[in-house]
Amino acid sequence: MKKLHTLLIILMVFGFLGVNAQVSSSAKSRAENSKMDNFVNTLMKKMTLAEKIGQLNLVTPGGAVTGAVVSKDVDTKIRNGEVGGLFGITGPDKIRKTQEIAVNNFRLHIPLIFGLDVIHGHKTIFPIPLGLSSSWDTTLIKKTARIAANEATADGLSWVFSPMVDIARDPRWGRIAEGAGEDPFLGSQIAKVMIEGYQENNLSKDNTVMACVKHYALYGAAEAGREYNTVDMSKVRMYNEYLPPYKAAVDAGAGSVMTSFNDINGVPATANKWLVTDLLRKQWGFKGFVVTDYTAIPELINHGMGDDMKVTELALNAGVDMDMVGEEYLRHAAQLVKEGKVSEKTIDDACRRILEAKYKLGLFEDPYRYCNDERAKTELMSDANLKAAREVAERCFVLLKNNDQVLPLKKSGTIALIGPLADNKRNMLGTWSVSGDPQKSVTIMQGIKNVVGNSVNILYAKGANISDDTEFIKHVNVFGEEISVDKRSPEEMINEAVETADKADVVVAVLGEAADMTGESSSMSNISLQESQENLLKALVKTGKPVVLVLMNGRPMTLTWENEHVPAILDTWFGGTEAGNAVADVLFGNYNPSGKITASFPRNVGQIPIYYNQFNTGRPFHPGDSPKFKSDYLDVANTPLYPFGYGLSYTTFKYSDISLSNNTLSSNGKITASVNVTNTGTRSGKETVQMYIRDMVGSITRPIKELKGFKQITLEPGETQKVSFTISVNDLKFYNSDLKYVYETGDFKVFIGTNSQDVKEADFKLK
Ligand code: BGC
Repeated sequence: MKKLHTLLIILMVFGFLGVNAQVSSSAKSRAENSKMDNFVNTLMKKMTLAEKIGQLNLVTPGGAVTGAVVSKDVDTKIRNGEVGGLFGITGPDKIRKTQEIAVNNFRLHIPLIFGLDVIHGHKTIFPIPLGLSSSWDTTLIKKTARIAANEATADGLSWVFSPMVDIARDPRWGRIAEGAGEDPFLGSQIAKVMIEGYQENNLSKDNTVMACVKHYALYGAAEAGREYNTVDMSKVRMYNEYLPPYKAAVDAGAGSVMTSFNDINGVPATANKWLVTDLLRKQWGFKGFVVTDYTAIPELINHGMGDDMKVTELALNAGVDMDMVGEEYLRHAAQLVKEGKVSEKTIDDACRRILEAKYKLGLFEDPYRYCNDERAKTELMSDANLKAAREVAERCFVLLKNNDQVLPLKKSGTIALIGPLADNKRNMLGTWSVSGDPQKSVTIMQGIKNVVGNSVNILYAKGANISDDTEFIKHVNVFGEEISVDKRSPEEMINEAVETADKADVVVAVLGEAADMTGESSSMSNISLQESQENLLKALVKTGKPVVLVLMNGRPMTLTWENEHVPAILDTWFGGTEAGNAVADVLFGNYNPSGKITASFPRNVGQIPIYYNQFNTGRPFHPGDSPKFKSDYLDVANTPLYPFGYGLSYTTFKYSDISLSNNTLSSNGKITASVNVTNTGTRSGKETVQMYIRDMVGSITRPIKELKGFKQITLEPGETQKVSFTISVNDLKFYNSDLKYVYETGDFKVFIGTNSQDVKEADFKLK
């Protein structure tokens, strides 16, 4: 009794302290907010309308730009208070000098915000985001954002145009490389940790940056995978499948949001009041500022929304705060206010949001807080960051095939290392690595040497150009010679490669895409290997030597021939600065591959869009069915070549049947679904156990499977571990035809397995 009493007192005291801590932290944030309000109010009272509009202007003096227009007279504009932020420059020195122009010359001394595309690392480059997502390791992904923030702030920046959270189900779209693939659940988890990694819930620190969630919204659903193309989508699909990652990023406290280039059901995102004001601000409660994408306001003219005066009005009234490079606000906003087409309050609100961002970043307190030369010297590409880049990259590679245990390779004998990407620094970093230096990257040749030294004899031949198609090469090489064309003929190169292969025990063929064959403005209608490389690969396979295909790629590719004829395929995406070392670690078994793809690999482009969480249709096709009058193709299977969540290991895992704690779930209860996973191979290995759910009957059609959980375990050979998932109604909710987030009672299936296709299943009822 006495004990119980003491326990109660302890609980009360702790409970009280807990509540008190909450009260005091919210009181603290209220006090901070009111301090910020006072500061911004006082400042805004001093500002003219023109100066307020100046804050809405984001310029770039050049550097890595993605449009035809580059801002002019940047210096004068900054002095006049006609610039709120700037992107495209880095380095504490340059940023300090530019900041000085604003702080010393603009009469109100308002500091600038400095942004940049820091997408998968800043100087230390990590794998492309599609690769990062293949790790399914949110702790690791958060760490990459943290390191990127550390480096970006050490280099003078306060704002990053990341994360890119667009769901993409169309590998023809080059920007599939920049996101987390096709799934809203995984995409949302990744969006959240990226924001946490960048912002750490505290923008006032000198090593956190403001994130910018992009591209809002639905950019990944561009028709036919063609860049900047139309999006037309039902709201139910938007809410259930495409919007969740943006919302997750907003819920995690993202400081800013970037609108997308595409139109949505007839209204371009940058002029879309429903999207920016009603959904983002009113429904989701977003408090930060909204910036356009590059020249997206003047592009509204091409969309057919009106002349430049009209499109400025539309963007402002939609709730878009900052104009990236377009300078339409600067030219027309004052006139629009004068004519009563845009209210002064709209300008005030936009200006306030931008000033608040600067306040939160601590720029008013110290405009040079990110200009620390010491930090730049010690923190950029530090040994620790490079070590992390190597570890991260290893965890992102996906073993697509490994017949007869061709991999891992022996650390002896002779390897024929063949291919235009085998020793190619220029293409190691992949798309959107604007501050990365490809010359500092480790190629696969170098990585192999670093890992196995002289114990392996390496013979090298280029074998083929990345492509032989001259028109195509011109398109890809816009920013430099990513595809270099050898003086020798294709036949000579292949002959040399075959001779080299003949002398070796095993062939490692490093093939795939040049860095800019994915990313912005890199849509492709053919996503197989280029003909030059296909010819090379066929010749290598013909030698009869075991061939390991190491792929470098920014998108799911069509690999039907390769899957049939090449014994081992390792997908390494664009692995970043340390890619070469990481690839070698995996090839020689120092790391047992554990990545799983996050976007389905189609068998051919005719299957696109292809994604696992599709609908059943009224005439579903099941293997073995008579093919007539079923939802299928005459000439290809419905299934992808490699399904979402797929990836092999050097070991094997066996799953038991699912055991459910209860077959009935109540609306306020929980049930547990468990499997035993056993490592049935001979090596220690990491497995991502995936849990999917199907709602069997709904008021609207429901997907045949939806990812609702995943867990990573590492098992020693012979070891078994129980993996359990808790299911509650929260996992069963969806947006119905009234866009209400609901659950519906009835029958459900739960699936647990190693990928979206290879699963165990069990049934339960929601009462
Ligand atoms: C891209 C954005 C990028 C911006 C600034 C645009 O072309 O779509 O993702 O952040 O340029 O570089």
